[in-house]
Amino acid sequence: MPFPQHRPRRLRQNPAMRRLAAQTRLHPSELILPVFLKEGASEPIAISSMPGVVQHTRESLKRASAEAVELGLGGIMLFGVPEHHDATGSESLNPEGVLNDGIRAIKEEVGDDLVVMSDLCLDEFTDHGHCGVLDDAGNVDNDATLEIYGQMGVAQAEAGAHLVGPSGMMDGQVAVIRQALDDAGHQDVGIIAYSAKYSSAFYGPFREAVDSQLTGDRKTYQMDPSNRREAVLETMLDLEEGADMVMVKPAMSYLDILRDVAEISDVPVSAYQISGEYAMIEAAAANGWINRDAAMAESVLSIRRAGADTVLTYYAVELGRALKEGS
Ligand code: PBG
Repeated sequence: MPFPQHRPRRLRQNPAMRRLAAQTRLHPSELILPVFLKEGASEPIAISSMPGVVQHTRESLKRASAEAVELGLGGIMLFGVPEHHDATGSESLNPEGVLNDGIRAIKEEVGDDLVVMSDLCLDEFTDHGHCGVLDDAGNVDNDATLEIYGQMGVAQAEAGAHLVGPSGMMDGQVAVIRQALDDAGHQDVGIIAYSAKYSSAFYGPFREAVDSQLTGDRKTYQMDPSNRREAVLETMLDLEEGADMVMVKPAMSYLDILRDVAEISDVPVSAYQISGEYAMIEAAAANGWINRDAAMAESVLSIRRAGADTVLTYYAVELGRALKEGS
């Protein structure tokens, strides 16, 4: 009697066999590229904590969008970095403000050939750096913030966004934005909801990317990393409120959450491989401690395997190119 009876290694014996046996594959159309537009920048500005990522000028943003189309990426997610901040983040509502203008710039370049998404949150625009407006006691005022989110949604839709991405974790944000969009005649503009967004130390490099004004933390609105069931609740609420897609964020430390959300969601599920995840891979690779290209592909593949239909990743262009070249 031969031993062992089961030989799973059989399917691993050469690249052709492994390719046939692969249970998860990556495709450029599943990748969403997050980008930053810096108001008043005359040339792209490097973000030191995210090597290879820049704050774009309007022109370089257009070039990046064209490249995303060429590679067949799934979409682009825009963040604005304004020059002026105030208590209510009023620049977010200015049709000529950096974010709304950036949406328009991308749309001029790509039309409907790429799904254009915009971050719908106040943190880049407020002088205190919180994702909402503050009440007299200095706490984030949920319902006052919702009113502004609704208006932001309409402004972004008017600029041409296909999907708006509320990332502030205010209660009821999806419903309010949906209603505001519908009331303004933007039934076709969808919502990609940051449903399970955790208060994470791994957002660190992003704060440099958007010149964040924040002191303190976001623990009263973003989720506690210790909670798993709560992600299901947050996702169900967003689905009930009309989310067209849901998202888990961060990705790599939250693959269990991603799996849970993938099990219950009846709409496409996204995950965001955030700035700190990118920075960790880059830092280790720069030290020669890991193989950068292999780590890049493996990290995104594992996010897909855990249940994400699409992945927001700063590697979208590079990975898209590698996939296109068949490497
Ligand atoms: C909030 C927002 C953040 C990120 C995306 N949207 C920052 C935060 O919640 O503090 C983080 C993205 C990243 O770290 O790559 N507008």
